[in-house]
Amino acid sequence: MMAEQIIAPGPAEKYDPRNNLLDWLMKNLREYGGIYRACVYGAYVYVVSDPQYADHVLRSNWQNYRKGQAIKRVGFLLGNGLMVSEGEFWKTQRRMIQPAFHGEEVEKLVAMIQETSNQLLSRWTVLAQESTDINITREVSLWVLEVVLRALFGRDFEAVAPAFSILSSESARNLHFAHVFRPLREIVHHVIAERRQKSDVRADILDMLMNARDRATGELMPDGQLVSEVVTLIVAGHETTASTLSWAWYLLSQHPHVESTLSKALATTGEQISGSPAASQQYLGAVIDETMRLYPPGWLMTRRALADDHLGPYFVAAGSEIYISPYLIQRNPALWDNPDQFDPDRFVRHPHAERYPLAHIPFSAGPRKCIGDSLARVEMQIHLATVIPRMALQWTSGNPDELETGVNLRCRNDLHFVGRLKTPATFAN
Ligand code: HEM
Repeated sequence: MMAEQIIAPGPAEKYDPRNNLLDWLMKNLREYGGIYRACVYGAYVYVVSDPQYADHVLRSNWQNYRKGQAIKRVGFLLGNGLMVSEGEFWKTQRRMIQPAFHGEEVEKLVAMIQETSNQLLSRWTVLAQESTDINITREVSLWVLEVVLRALFGRDFEAVAPAFSILSSESARNLHFAHVFRPLREIVHHVIAERRQKSDVRADILDMLMNARDRATGELMPDGQLVSEVVTLIVAGHETTASTLSWAWYLLSQHPHVESTLSKALATTGEQISGSPAASQQYLGAVIDETMRLYPPGWLMTRRALADDHLGPYFVAAGSEIYISPYLIQRNPALWDNPDQFDPDRFVRHPHAERYPLAHIPFSAGPRKCIGDSLARVEMQIHLATVIPRMALQWTSGNPDELETGVNLRCRNDLHFVGRLKTPATFAN
């Protein structure tokens, strides 16, 4: 006898693309709860904001799921790199790339990240002394881009940086962007070809990828694939980290008591952060976690079921799309007290939000979890720990309420600030 196929309840009306998708999904979360079925862009999707279902799709039964429709746009831009690839091919690539992001490799990048942070602080110090506007969105975008390019290309940074600056200056991610992005692949090809000719060891991420071998066959990655992986890492590592830092600055400017607690903690513990932050860095980590809870850059992960499945009592037919939104999960009132409030202490009271596994998933979870999470954390920690003891930033303009819900969640407007230098007495008090 066939088991009953229960369909999750959900809104009768279809999503109207003239409206903001995130607002519409949130409205339905309030009405239908942690799982509902909705018609979005002409197809029925399951929208999941109950962590137990996210756990099922991302971890326990992950083999039954592939990336959903939304990944096609990314594939068009980045090729078949780690973000897009599937199955055995993805697994082989992930195994070859993963070692470049292990703790000891990230640790080797700390000196470079610290040095570039110090340079940024010097620039901002001059701007603060002149009370000149600081466009934080643009400034952190350029800085994160520099860090990711230096991590990947090492001493070839100067050769590639001018062309890649388009990632900071062009904020639209449309067809025009895809068109201007294409020549960047050629530049990476060129760097790889030059390195192969010179057999020059650079000890950067590109070098590791060029020398990584498939465990089963002993083969190196073909150059075209290397290029796709490199541009994937640049794009995946840039906008996400930069957006989080912009939000962190905005949230700190609106919550002076948090800023002051953090400033004091950093002044007493010093600014040097290593790949494995000590307990004294807990509050800084909490501020970053809370920022990513409220504004997860990867706000929507889509998946497609390969075979029939169930999410709790609900039937999921093969081919169904599942929307797992870190934004919805992390603002779900069933999981979080005062979900819209910025309160880093919640992560101190409940480290790693251990009450609910997968209630906080800015980097996703399971085998396809973000490969660059440790690097991103170290970058954000070093940046904030360098600047905060020296300078407070006061938000002046750029409407933070207008969100852009493209591949990444971003603030539609650039956020502007003025800097106020702290005297040693200010931050020691
Ligand atoms: C705050 C910063 C970051 C956030 C919030 C973030 C978030 C995410 C999320 C949510 C995913 C899963 C996407 C999905 O499954 O649909 C992901 C995957 C990925 N991220 Fe990140 N990311 C960040 C920084 C980075 C950095 C610094 C890098 C590398 C330089 C990176 C590289 C990648 C790659 C390659 C994947 C695909 C992994 C795979 O499928 O095997 N990310 N990231």
